[in-house]
Amino acid sequence: MPQNTLTITDNRTGQTYTVPVENETIRAMDLRQIKTSPDDFGLMTYDPAFMNTASCKSTITFIDGDQGILRYRGYPIEVLAERCTFLEVAYLLLFGELPTEAELKDWVYEITHHTMLHESTKKFMEGFHYDAHPMAMFVSTVAALSSVYPEAKQVHDTANRLLQIKRLIGKVPSIAAMSYRHSEGLPYVYPDNDLSYTENFMNMLWKKVEPKYVANPAISRALDILFILHADHEQNCGTNAMRAVGSAHTDPFLSMAAAAAALAGPLHGGANEEVLKMLDEIGSKDNVPAYIKKVKEGHIKLMGFGHRIYKNYDPRAKIIKWTAEQVFSVTGRNPKLEIALELERIALEDDYFVKRKLYPNVDFYSGIMYQAMGFRPEMFTVLFAIPRTVGWLTQWQEMITDPEQKIARPRQVYLGHGERAVVPIEKRASAEVSAR
Ligand code: CMC
Repeated sequence: MPQNTLTITDNRTGQTYTVPVENETIRAMDLRQIKTSPDDFGLMTYDPAFMNTASCKSTITFIDGDQGILRYRGYPIEVLAERCTFLEVAYLLLFGELPTEAELKDWVYEITHHTMLHESTKKFMEGFHYDAHPMAMFVSTVAALSSVYPEAKQVHDTANRLLQIKRLIGKVPSIAAMSYRHSEGLPYVYPDNDLSYTENFMNMLWKKVEPKYVANPAISRALDILFILHADHEQNCGTNAMRAVGSAHTDPFLSMAAAAAALAGPLHGGANEEVLKMLDEIGSKDNVPAYIKKVKEGHIKLMGFGHRIYKNYDPRAKIIKWTAEQVFSVTGRNPKLEIALELERIALEDDYFVKRKLYPNVDFYSGIMYQAMGFRPEMFTVLFAIPRTVGWLTQWQEMITDPEQKIARPRQVYLGHGERAVVPIEKRASAEVSAR
């Protein structure tokens, strides 16, 4: 029997099958040959929420959830956060290698010159309700860009794809800043091409009447680090949405709107906003044990804790904790930090959390830092979406150019009725149908 194979015996028929094992996986399609009769459809796998299914081959991001390791293109996240800028990391993710000085200079220039939004997009944003959630504005405006750039449909044209990628990376901080200023009732600020990616973002967020915005270097570096940490995270819910929608050859603006919509959910990127609400609800350090009790009784979840892949401390959370200290040295300590530290201390000692391997994730400390910088909690997920744009686009490009990929279309296990006859309406009995 060749090595790297799996032998399966079907106890329904007594027949044995041998299927290849490649990269520690078997192909689900290899199971289709397992049948009880010639007209049987063949065996499928059932895997709700993709708990044990690889949907693609990828060379972008590596995670070892048990060890708490995260690498982009082979480089440890800790080293990238310490040594690189966000746009350098964006280049690495997209093109596979770190840029030379000349390549980085061109790349920064290109992205900087795509930061402007068409005036029609600005008008579109002006139409949002005054208290619209910034994430709803972000998702809708990214989708609306599809109407401004109809040529983005040419998803198989390499040069066209790259142009849309540059546009999106350049424009997301502008959309984010406009959504922030809209909800604050402030006039929009245009980009300043002399500034770095994060300095310009700060300029568009916080410039008032001064002729030239000067960013605090500690805050702009902290944002840059935060952006590096959030840039990609392999096949998470939002990225899976990007790949699934993009697999229909939908343009990148519409595909990315779907990915950002997934990110908005409280179990995903929306968790950072929920953490702040939770800390507000707890109110003080003394109330932490009672809150933990409610979590253990199953009434609520501890937001910012737990992860599908990490069964160890999220390596991003460690770096964020360190970065938060740098931010607090400028802004003053956010009093909520005390409550968060106490939550973490108690949770990490408690059997409930230890047994389930629940540790702080990327969202646990990021919100506390964002709040100290002056952001309202509603903005936190938008701050996640800006850098994740790079990950979504890198993964989208890998999917589009992968000859093994096709339109994403899962199977189902149908457990409903067999064929039935329609009963005339006057003869139907009420079936007490609950809300479906
Ligand atoms: N608080 C309390 N218990 C939890 C938590 C939590 N935050 N997370 C998981 N559990 C429990 C869960 O109830 C289950 O217990 P039991 O085995 O007794 O039923 C066990 O741990 C396993 O959890 P699961 O729900 O099967 O895990 P999952 O992989 O399906 O969910 C998760 C992962 C991130 C959705 C979940 O941990 C969660 O809801 N966390 C809170 C929300 C959050 O912080 N999300 C951000 C994730 S990181 C950034 C991102 O993805 O954008």
